[in-house]
Amino acid sequence: MDRPRITIFDTTLRDGEQSPGCSMNVQEKLRLAQQLDRLGVDAIEAGFPIASDGDFEAVQGIAASLRRPIVAGLARACNGDVARAWQALQGAARPRIHVFLATSDIHLKYKLRITRDQCLEQAREAVRHAKSLCADVEFSPEDATRTEVAFLCQVVEAVIAAGATTVNIPDTVGYSMPEEYGNLIRTLREKVEGIDRVTISTHCHNDLGLAVANSLAGVQQGARQVECTINGIGERAGNASLEEIVMAMRVRPDRYDYETAVASEHLYSASQMLAEITRVPVQPNKAITGRNAFAHEAGIHQDGMLKNPLTYEIMTPQSVGVPDSRLVLGKHSGRHALALRCEQLGHQFERRELDEIYRRFVVLADRIKKVQDSHLLELIQDVSSGIVSSSDLAGRQGKKFPPAAATLPFQRAVSAAAGANSNSNDSHPAQISGSAGQASVSIPLPDHHSEQEDYLWGV
Ligand code: KIV
Ligand code: ZN
Repeated sequence: MDRPRITIFDTTLRDGEQSPGCSMNVQEKLRLAQQLDRLGVDAIEAGFPIASDGDFEAVQGIAASLRRPIVAGLARACNGDVARAWQALQGAARPRIHVFLATSDIHLKYKLRITRDQCLEQAREAVRHAKSLCADVEFSPEDATRTEVAFLCQVVEAVIAAGATTVNIPDTVGYSMPEEYGNLIRTLREKVEGIDRVTISTHCHNDLGLAVANSLAGVQQGARQVECTINGIGERAGNASLEEIVMAMRVRPDRYDYETAVASEHLYSASQMLAEITRVPVQPNKAITGRNAFAHEAGIHQDGMLKNPLTYEIMTPQSVGVPDSRLVLGKHSGRHALALRCEQLGHQFERRELDEIYRRFVVLADRIKKVQDSHLLELIQDVSSGIVSSSDLAGRQGKKFPPAAATLPFQRAVSAAAGANSNSNDSHPAQISGSAGQASVSIPLPDHHSEQEDYLWGV
């Protein structure tokens, strides 16, 4: 049986752009929209045309230039907004008007100052109007997750009857828990007349860090569109991250057996492009696209990675467009990774020399966060020419190095690893990053005597 297909609705250019510091001009939006097209998203929410002339132009430009994806324009539930959105979408091959109106009592009472009946009527009317212009109409009851469920069902039923083709259920303030959000989608499917005729969509904010989990819970209960953004940018704590949603489905089909049209090998470049345009860097530990997502510093991890990447990676970096795994030389690195980097720099050592380099390396790595190639080359040179004995090292004030630490740390690791020998035919191509560029080489890995030794070698 075919796997259910999930529509990926990207709102980086609309909700994403609403995050502080992430606004984009028309040219920048066009550039990113082209990248989203390459990525294969199904729908692009290009902006909120009534909000500004710039947003109008951006929606107009994207609508005119992209033929494959649906291009959506946002509108409040009123005539002026709907008409303006439609005007901006004129050149689109696949236009969509996205109408929204808050439905929770808290929004009705304090923000909109209307009754539930007025809300129901306004939603129905706005969707009717949008439908008279455009066949593809999405409706969002804003703050749906804090709306009384019976009233939410009433609104959703009314907009379906008025012609909505997609009903989006926003967790506007990121308040929901995954089980709760999933149950809400299930309840709508059970109680709303006509729900089978429309696509149910998720739109989850990340205020409690649950946007992706909530979206996936919604999908498991029958939602077939997910609204999300590159790097998870968006109002406040952001929206569900597109790359995390897509890769969760790809890596765990046993739990999420769904198909998307996203070409995951373009995820990293989309993330980088967004960061470059907005000048908002991706947090280093961001899942999938952060610079540490495929970096390994701990010696045990590096050792495992060099033997078989499956030990510490659940997806390949190439599958999301990251050039390769990076083994970072820092104070947690082991000899195994150090030996490989030396090899990549053109230096192969006997066991005793490597021991000496490693001793110096751990002292240095304790002082500086990341050992660069230049530092390593200097250590190699010193050891090769026998200038400094290891006992002098603790007091050495290196030319390029920060002030020395007074003691030798990790002595335990050095002496514990002393039994490993270096003869083996086993090889595995891997890369280790350093400042002087990267080279990919295959080198023989040491043949260890025991599992315990393997473990210590990686310390
Ligand atoms: O979070 C939200 O409720 C929204 C709607 C406009 C869909 O962004
Ligand atoms: Zn939103």
